[in-house]
Amino acid sequence: MSKGKPILVTGDRPTGRLHLGHLVGSLLNRIKFQDDYDCHFLVADLHMLTTHYDRVGEVERNTLEMVMDWLSVGMDPDKSTFYVQSQIPYIMELYAILAMFCGVPRAERIPTLKEKVQDMGVGENYSVGLLGYPVLMAADILMFKAEKVPVGEDQLSHVELTRELARRFNFLYGEFFKEPEPVISETSRLVGTDGNRKMSKSLDNCIYLSDDPKEVEARVRIMYTDPKRIRADIPGTVEGNPVFVYHDAFNTNKEEVEDLKQRYRTGSVGDVEVKKKLARAINELLEPIREKRREFEKRPDYVRDVLREGTKKANRAAHANMDEIITKMGLYKP
Ligand code: TRP
Repeated sequence: MSKGKPILVTGDRPTGRLHLGHLVGSLLNRIKFQDDYDCHFLVADLHMLTTHYDRVGEVERNTLEMVMDWLSVGMDPDKSTFYVQSQIPYIMELYAILAMFCGVPRAERIPTLKEKVQDMGVGENYSVGLLGYPVLMAADILMFKAEKVPVGEDQLSHVELTRELARRFNFLYGEFFKEPEPVISETSRLVGTDGNRKMSKSLDNCIYLSDDPKEVEARVRIMYTDPKRIRADIPGTVEGNPVFVYHDAFNTNKEEVEDLKQRYRTGSVGDVEVKKKLARAINELLEPIREKRREFEKRPDYVRDVLREGTKKANRAAHANMDEIITKMGLYKP
């Protein structure tokens, strides 16, 4: 189907429904990439396990919710391969091989490790699996010989390690892997509704793609704006103001946005109007996504089929690549 196109690998940990931050940070880019790349979209359930190994009870539901969001925004299983990471055993095999020549201090220096250890509150007692997070990601990427890897800024150090491991493999066993290129989206981070620098489920500052119009209105109504502006006739700051960041990102009526900014700066518009118009714009954007999602919600078997077929296909490709890798390394196959 997509023979000859350069291969792209990216994905998300299955932690549930996706939000507007995901939309501008990665999903919109993925939709565009689908025509020019052989896209591999993985449900990174093993990566989820590195921190939430005790939450396996939620993984199926979270996976289906997330993949419904993928489908609803236009990620297309006819163009791309959707698969469940843990069901491609070759990924774990490659992970074990790459781990042989990844230094422990090198893995310890990855900045996301410190953050995760802190979030988990485990101190020095973090797991081998957590330390191996970026090595596992390298296995995801190299397994399919990806050339492009769209990621959030926070994941860049993992792609850098992937490139090093690819070089190291080539040095040890002969030229084989191309070094994959990371792609960072222009808006890789969306401010939260509370003004926190990042929209994130754990901070409870999200607007979800599947929120209904009332939920969107309620979220927008309590959004953080310019705190100095306690009355509508006080001039306000537009730059960096979450309400205007969202207007810029989601309101397609640019004239309206300019007018609101103008009046906000001069203290001649109330927050209520600015927010009403924002909620309307977001709802306009989300309505077609919600409509598609309602269809997928009625057809859970379809969503499962997409993953089953994609996982089968990914397994075939991974199997062939693993054979080449083993041959290249000169492992003994009795
Ligand atoms: N670790 C990535 C994240 O949390 C998800 C991921 C797993 C990924 N494997 C990948 C992204 C391979 C790109 C390529 O966002």
